This record gives sequence, structure tokens and C-alpha cells, in this order.
Amino acid sequence: MTRVRSIVRGVGSYLPQNVVTNAELAKTVDTSDEWIQQRVGIKERHIAAEGEFTSDLAVAAAKAALDNAGLTPEDIDLIIVATTTPDYTFPAAATLVQMKLGMHHGFAFDIQAVCSGFVYAVTTADSYIKNGLAKRALVIGAETFTRLLDWTDRTTCVLFGDGAGAMILERAELAEGEPERGIIASALRSDGHHWDKLYVDGGPSSTGTAGHVHMQGPEVFRHAVGKITDVVYATLEQSGHTVADLDWFVPHQANKRIIDGAGAKLGLPPEKVVTTVDIHANTSAASVPLALSVAVADGRIKAGDLVMLEAMGGGFTWGASLIRW
Ligand code: UT7
Repeated sequence: MTRVRSIVRGVGSYLPQNVVTNAELAKTVDTSDEWIQQRVGIKERHIAAEGEFTSDLAVAAAKAALDNAGLTPEDIDLIIVATTTPDYTFPAAATLVQMKLGMHHGFAFDIQAVCSGFVYAVTTADSYIKNGLAKRALVIGAETFTRLLDWTDRTTCVLFGDGAGAMILERAELAEGEPERGIIASALRSDGHHWDKLYVDGGPSSTGTAGHVHMQGPEVFRHAVGKITDVVYATLEQSGHTVADLDWFVPHQANKRIIDGAGAKLGLPPEKVVTTVDIHANTSAASVPLALSVAVADGRIKAGDLVMLEAMGGGFTWGASLIRW
């Protein structure tokens, strides 16, 4: 019996040109490079230029992923953009990406699960591929998250950045006895009772404005490590793998202390953990595909490797996905 799997054909990313260091932020915000590096592990972040929208970042990442896969937009029949910062309330950023790639075929939609958005989008694309609705999916995490920041609130404005990452998933039929490839298992969770621990105080149905980010940082921190490890174990359990089988752990990049805490609780050696929070800050739905792109480009993640993606964020939402590269 053959098995249908969604295999990874390529990844790509895009970061806006403008890099802002902690020292530069400290000129206008009551903070310091030392505090940010010690408490969060961030050194710098990229910030989108005026007139540069989430769909622009997404298209640049999509083109890089298509190049990496040796494919063209003609080959894609599903686009999912995970974002909290779409260009417009509607249409979906994904349909703008579809237009900017010159596509008239296929279908495109956004997923809103904040920092967990990319893991949700990968899992959704996997389901569409497995049930025959799509053959090749372009899955993008893209954010201009800094547009939601209150630059006078030092407890949030130092934490985030902008960027986009993309992955192309393709339907493959694995023959009897052929080793596992592609997405092996996923687990998604949410609990809306925590909505006001990390939220934006605006929206079309409430204030009619975009609003600003508010976060009870220590409360989110308190939940993070436990929720991350639970969902990682749930994913491993489904697949019959153990932590020792993992080649790479690619977590959401919110705080170096959370990443280190989750890695230690799982018993993962630090050299198997991909960390980019120092150079990207928290880019919400873009953080996992950005980190993946870095680790693929520098040769760490190779064909055959077992890779665990994980994210946790506003909602709360959290999830993990296990991929044989
Ligand atoms: O991506 C979605 C998921 N998000 C997360 O996972 C974020 C989770 N939370 C965190 O990463 C951390 O809670 C933060 C990085 C947000 C904050 O770190 P913390 O160690 O929890 O600090 P804190 O909020 O307890 O604040 C400690 C002190 C306070 O001063 P006092 O009351 O002790 O005098 C804050 O006012 O640090 C102060 N502080 C700052 N100082 C300098 C808060 N922000 C800053 C700042 N610069 N930017």
C-alpha cells in the first residue's frame, strides 16, 4: 500500500533591509542593550520600510522558496499565508501574494493563529494535500508585526521584528517499504481563556482601528515551556519517535530563555536547537520558517534529517510538526 505524504520541496525567506539594534532603540525607549540581551537574547531586528507591506515580504520569501525548489508559480495550486498583520482587513494577504506571483489558478487563504500561525498553516496544507484538494502548497509565514507596536511601551516594543519565510510542500506517494518522508505527525492546541494575556487592543468589529500589542509577559512566559514540551511529546508519541531521534529542533523565536528552557526540559543538546531570536527578534508567524531557512541555507538541515517545528503564542495557540526532510 502506498502512503500519501507532504514532502518539503524548498524553503526561502526575506528580511527587510532596515536593521535596528538594541542600542538604537535605547535612544528613544527607556531600555538598554544589556536588559534586552539578558532577558530575551535579542541583539537586533529588521523593520519593514514605509510602503513595504506583509504581502511584499511574503512574495519575496515565496520567490526564494520557488527558486530553492526549482519550481515556478505555475506549479503551485494552494497558497496559505500565516499572518497577524495582513495588508488589509480583507482580502486575505494570500490572494495578494497569488496576484503578485501572476497566478490565476489554485486557491489562497490566510491563517490567523499569531505566533503559531506557521505550524497551523503547515498542518492545514498537509491535510489539504493528503485529502487530494491540493498537489503543491506554498506555505508562508509573513509579518510586519512592528506596525502593531506602541513604541512608548518598553515591555513590548523591544521584542518584535518583521520578516517572512516560506516552504513548499508537495504530494508524494511513498511505495511499500519506502522510508518515511515529509510531514510525519502534527499536534495543534488552543485555549481562548488566555486571550487577554497577549492581544491587540483593536480590530474591525471592536474599535475599527488596528490597535497595539499588549502582553502580560511573565504570564505568557509561565505557560510557554510547559505548553511547548507537551505538544512536542504529543507529536513524537503519534509518530513512534523519541526526543533522541530528533536531528533538529526549530522553535518559535520569542525569547532565548524560553527556547533554552524548552530544550533543557526535552533533554535536547543545545547544538540541535536552531536559534535566530538574536538577529530576527520575535517575528510571530514568520519566526519558524525564517529559522528553518537559516538552518537549511547554512547546511545544518539536510535531506533525511528529522526536524521538529514548534510554536506558541496569542490565543493561546500552540502546536508542533515533525518532518523528515
Ligand atoms: O511570541 C508569543 C509568545 N511570547 C512570549 O513567549 C513572550 C513571553 N515573555 C517573555 O519573554 C518575558 O516575560 C519578557 C521578555 C516579555 C519580559 O521578561 P521578564 O524577565 O519576564 O521581565 P518582567 O516583565 O518581569 O520585568 C522585569 C523588570 C521590570 O522592572 P521592575 O518592576 O523589576 O523594576 C520591568 O519594568 O524589567 C523591566 N522592564 C524593562 N527594563 C528595561 C520591562 N521591559 C523592559 C525593557 N527595558 N524593555
